[in-house]
Amino acid sequence: MKMNRETEDLVISIGGSILLPEDEDIERLSSLAKILEKNRGKRNIYLVVGGGRIAREYINWGRELGADEATLDELGIETSRLNARLLILALEGDVYPVPAKNFNEAISAGNNHSIVTMGGTHPGHTTDAVAAMLAEKLGADRLINATSVDGVYTADPKKDGEAERLKQLTYEELIEIVSEGESGAGPNVVFDPLAARIIKRANIMTYIVDGRDLSTLKSAIQDEEFDGSKITR
Ligand code: UTP
Repeated sequence: MKMNRETEDLVISIGGSILLPEDEDIERLSSLAKILEKNRGKRNIYLVVGGGRIAREYINWGRELGADEATLDELGIETSRLNARLLILALEGDVYPVPAKNFNEAISAGNNHSIVTMGGTHPGHTTDAVAAMLAEKLGADRLINATSVDGVYTADPKKDGEAERLKQLTYEELIEIVSEGESGAGPNVVFDPLAARIIKRANIMTYIVDGRDLSTLKSAIQDEEFDGSKITR
């Protein structure tokens, strides 16, 4: 078991909307898979996959049926695992064949496989928080959040015309920005507030990139200049 040591392992939080964006075909998922395969190198890549629009639809339907928030979260967790299964189908080679259900399974799978996927774990947070906790447990020093916005803004750019994108910000600044977000199952903020607190306490440098732009995602994975936001101490 890997404990409390720095590794070159890379953890990527992949929003469900990146995996299967609207108006795109399944070829895109294959292109994403190829980038991930090419970049595993000597390190392992851990892919924590989100639920995306399938999660949102199920959560909305469940809410209309009167389900409580924790039960709606469980619907979200199941859809994230379903998306992770689809990603596994697109990946070739040494991939753990099922999404790990918890951190210990993911960590032991990483002893024999260079790519490991996970979906959600427990109600109350999103897969960004799962990715941050996994990165903390692995001792990874870098996390990438591949999401559907091109970085962290000073305010919600959809609501505030003055909002500016931040190329670099501190953990504290990120916490302040994301804490303004909504709560309840299926939130849609750039980075989960719990995940923001975890990267701060574990000092995990985090890159936020628009994962729909595969060349930007590739640059971020290769730790080259990329168009997005970098969060550091
Ligand atoms: P996501 O991680 O996909 O949330 O989980 P999101 O904010 O909608 O992310 P994007 O848009 O794909 O980037 C979907 C939902 O599943 C539940 C939560 O309700 C979450 O909003 N979930 C997920 C959990 O309750 N626990 C988990 O560990 C993961």
